[in-house]
Amino acid sequence: MTTPDKKSPPGELQQLPGGLRAKLALVSAFQSREASSGLPVFASYSPVAPKRRPGWASRSRAKIQQLFPKWTHLRDWYRWERRWLNPNFSPFWKTNDPQKEIVAAVESGWFPKQQQVIDLGCGSGEICRWLARQGFAVLGIDYCPAAIASAQRFSAEQAGALAYEVADLCRENLRLKPVFSLIDRGCFHRVVKNLRPVFARNIAQATSEGGHFLLISGTFQDSRIINPRAIPSEEGLRDHVEEIFGDYFIIERAEATFLNAREGHESTPAMAFWMVRKSKAIHA
Ligand SMILES: C[S@@+](CC[C@H](N)C(=O)[O-])C[C@H]1O[C@@H](n2cnc3c(N)ncnc32)[C@H](O)[C@@H]1O
Repeated sequence: MTTPDKKSPPGELQQLPGGLRAKLALVSAFQSREASSGLPVFASYSPVAPKRRPGWASRSRAKIQQLFPKWTHLRDWYRWERRWLNPNFSPFWKTNDPQKEIVAAVESGWFPKQQQVIDLGCGSGEICRWLARQGFAVLGIDYCPAAIASAQRFSAEQAGALAYEVADLCRENLRLKPVFSLIDRGCFHRVVKNLRPVFARNIAQATSEGGHFLLISGTFQDSRIINPRAIPSEEGLRDHVEEIFGDYFIIERAEATFLNAREGHESTPAMAFWMVRKSKAIHA
């Protein structure tokens, strides 16, 4: 994995308006310890990172995101964008092998074939392409233009069944066209905690009544992975998901699982939540 150049912004970022670029430069200046030490920006997220316990650095990061959620969100976006601009970005979870829960949702008909699926935080579109091959019309959404550009590039041969859109799932009143089936693998667990209620509202609005939402979220019990947003127990994560999504969804099932990985890489503990949209008369 190569380390992105931190001094000059990548080409696409240079095309952003001056004001936003200045803000991002400020964000960049405050990048994490990992980034400033010259390690790959993704090092703390990789399951092959050295074993260490979350200490004061992790706790202060959690505090910063609590105090400055919008700033943290903007910084996260900037980091993701830089990762997706790196052609060598290949984290362990970026795999063409579908997660077993997604296979089960398709094979059992929980995601009915004739319905459209939205993949939330689709990255470079591996899940979208797999779903399209199973006969679904798929919309992949990500807030990084670079992720969507790479998803589109890799999907050129399947273009008919696939659409991609750049959208921030934490934007107030996003107003997506509602569909029956939605999947989130690995997006929610990286969202700033204070913005999760907005994220949940947007997803609820995008799910038709009785529709199905499959959420796969890491528990980050693995002490080698540092995530200040982590809820590091299965019970804790279940309660948290109930608290954030419970107004809109019934949790039909919650099961321990692993975020599957590229061959030869370790996976990481996670939970799968099978949720059904409640009546919109109660919560729009
Ligand atoms: C861990 S990756 C998972 C990618 C893909 N779902 C997969 O399983 O391969 C999380 C993705 O969520 C996207 N993301 C994070 N926050 C987002 C937000 N607020 N709105 C839209 N996308 C977001 C990131 O850009 C990134 O591509």
